[in-house]
Amino acid sequence: MASGPANVRDICRARRADGPAAVLAIGTANPANRVLQDDFPDMYFRATKSEHLVGLKEKFKRLCQKLGVQKRYLHHTEELIRAHPEFLDPVQTPSLDERLDIAKTAVPELAARACRKAIAEWGRPATDVTHLVVTTNSGAHIPGVDARLVPLLGLRPAVRRTMLYLNGCFAGAAALRVAKDLAENNRGARVLVVCAELTVLLFTRPVEGDFMTLMNQALFGDGAGAAVVGADPVPAAAERPLFELVSTAQAIVPGTEDAISMRVTKGCYVGHIAAREVPALIGASVERCLRDALEPLGMGAQWNDLFWNVHPGSAAILDQVDAVLRLRPDKLAASRRVLSEYGNMFGVTVIFVLDELRRRMEEGEETPEWGVMLAFGPGLTVETMVLHRCVEGTG
Ligand SMILES: CC(C)(COP(=O)(O)OP(=O)(O)OC[C@H]1O[C@@H](n2cnc3c(N)ncnc32)[C@H](O)[C@@H]1OP(=O)(O)O)[C@@H](O)C(=O)NCCC(=O)NCCS
Repeated sequence: MASGPANVRDICRARRADGPAAVLAIGTANPANRVLQDDFPDMYFRATKSEHLVGLKEKFKRLCQKLGVQKRYLHHTEELIRAHPEFLDPVQTPSLDERLDIAKTAVPELAARACRKAIAEWGRPATDVTHLVVTTNSGAHIPGVDARLVPLLGLRPAVRRTMLYLNGCFAGAAALRVAKDLAENNRGARVLVVCAELTVLLFTRPVEGDFMTLMNQALFGDGAGAAVVGADPVPAAAERPLFELVSTAQAIVPGTEDAISMRVTKGCYVGHIAAREVPALIGASVERCLRDALEPLGMGAQWNDLFWNVHPGSAAILDQVDAVLRLRPDKLAASRRVLSEYGNMFGVTVIFVLDELRRRMEEGEETPEWGVMLAFGPGLTVETMVLHRCVEGTG
């Protein structure tokens, strides 16, 4: 008689990976349209036919200079705005459908460009990807960006897909957290993670007395970041771990549900940020989140001994984290550089910072072995991830 099935616990145990999940490769992409922050007020007020709002333009110029951004990439060009006059006043002329039509094609294409770079660096064929985790705030289509990426990248039709919509600026960290759990609980899994954002969903003309119309246009940028995540790298396949994802945590800061929010309206996405309060709210909660993440690992509060990947929501947010943790001036250099070169790309930004940290480590500018990723977004939510840098021959 045939023997019965194996013990369920044994089956589960055998399916788990031995080691921790690690980032094996990173890829990034931006639209071709590069915008210098110094030139942006002229372009924006011209494109929105708002040149007569002289005082508002001066205020916008001052705001543009305060955010820590020097350059951004935007899918929407002046030409595209001219072709869509309905985008200027989404209250009078609902234009969500037209924006979603743009996102439907442009988001998967941008995501695919970042994924191709990550897969090329990883060195294995796209058909070896077992799981796909995609996150975006830019659109909500069925089938989603995840399904569109399967033919675009030549993934297996049986790739197991997870789509995370509308997680705000913590989306990239949340996607990496999900990828870590998938990789550690499915022996041999190779998880392709990608986050892609286009701000055309938020585009509107500047409105007197509505600060968010200024903030949304001054701060955010478009981009995509991808990573291949897997446990137990295979040396024979030339897999090389960059960062181990050691532990993850997510926390909601009590009483802050209105601090960052977004509504999908028939006109466009309408974002709200309690802009002056958010840096202080993050500053007040960050140390607790870090202790909760690090103490179970036996690590203390020697913040300057770590490397840092802090979501650069704006310069004020980075300044606040710097001040609360008493960090040395160079500690947030990777976050500040990404903010300066690309703007706040929502959840994409932490993947760019990871790439920048890798570059800095390769060039000897960043030496710590252990580090932390911190991402913030609606909730207020704080995502915390403890990272361990892998050097050649370890990991
Ligand atoms: C908004 C922010 C740039 C203001 O910086 P600051 O150093 O406090 O600068 P100020 O107070 O001088 O504000 C700059 C201008 O914005 C205006 N402003 C700032 N917050 C405002 C608000 N909530 N409503 C109306 N106007 C506001 C100020 O009146 C000022 O205008 P002025 O130049 O005409 O005087 C800064 O607080 C910030 O970056 N906040 C966080 C942004 C954020 O949450 N990002 C996303 C997180 S994921």
